[in-house]
Amino acid sequence: MILVTGANGHLGSATLAALRARGLAATGGSRTPDGGMRRLDFDDPRSLDLAGVSTLVLVSAGYAEDDRVVGRHAAIVEAAVRDGVGHVVYTSLTGAGDHLAFALAHRATERLVRASGLRWTILRNGLYAELFGGLLMWARAGDALESAFGDGSLAAVARADLAEAAAVVAADPAPYDGRVLDLVGTPITAGQVAERVGVPHRTIGLGEYRDRLLGEVPGLLPFQPPMLASIATGIRHGFLEGSGPDLADLLARPVRDPLRPAVAAASAARPAPGA
Ligand SMILES: NC(=O)c1ccc[n+]([C@@H]2O[C@H](COP(=O)([O-])OP(=O)(O)OC[C@H]3O[C@@H](n4cnc5c(N)ncnc54)[C@H](OP(=O)(O)O)[C@@H]3O)[C@@H](O)[C@H]2O)c1
Repeated sequence: MILVTGANGHLGSATLAALRARGLAATGGSRTPDGGMRRLDFDDPRSLDLAGVSTLVLVSAGYAEDDRVVGRHAAIVEAAVRDGVGHVVYTSLTGAGDHLAFALAHRATERLVRASGLRWTILRNGLYAELFGGLLMWARAGDALESAFGDGSLAAVARADLAEAAAVVAADPAPYDGRVLDLVGTPITAGQVAERVGVPHRTIGLGEYRDRLLGEVPGLLPFQPPMLASIATGIRHGFLEGSGPDLADLLARPVRDPLRPAVAAASAARPAPGA
């Protein structure tokens, strides 16, 4: 049986749906299980029962400091070894993202997976188009988009393509045993997103961006401003623009246009007139 972790998250749920669409017996694991899923909370090692799982799609459980994230991943890999899982597919971060503030947790997890003795495949996912669009900020009047990305481009990837890629590998993991696949999309800029939305894009400096994150964005956790600033400088200075063939090869079709989900994400955050 194939089990996908993080099954109530965006990537995990889409991966599970892609597997089921192929007619495969797959189930999900989640902190909040529903519909026959298993309860799997990486922060609660007693919940990590992987008995009967042949292939584990380990969706990274981010959104915390590195020690916490790596500890979570160590716990689920340990459970996979203990329970005799055959193959683990880990959703990691593109190689171009090595300088990003959250890269270390991914690379540390890759080491754990490689050293586990399990068969493995590492999917080094590019940054989501949905994330790129969602990080563009609306001017108060709702008449312009602003960002610190400048004219830099991102090889953004539609999350649906990454879910399908994970499903392709999990459906038949043997050909991908011991492989690291770099799954990025096609380069897009903030200006292109803004043009499709029908507004101008204004570039702000990285200092102003960090000030806004620290002063104006409610609810950010302490590790998030440096994480977001690292994404901005990486894109602005061209470190995340390179595309590659792995994703299209894996999907056996061209990748989806990342502008569509990026535009949808930016548009969804547009303030209502007069708000
Ligand atoms: N490439 C990118 O652009 C990008 C952007 C953002 C995040 N990410 C990474 O990719 C992952 C999946 O992205 P997404 O869009 O699906 O994010 P999402 O919708 O926010 O989902 C977060 C995921 O983390 C899981 N999770 C959190 N804490 C957990 C814990 N203690 N134990 C088990 N699972 C836990 C959640 O699982 P349940 O809620 O089902 O328990 C959920 O699948 C993220 O967790 C993050 O590591 C990548």
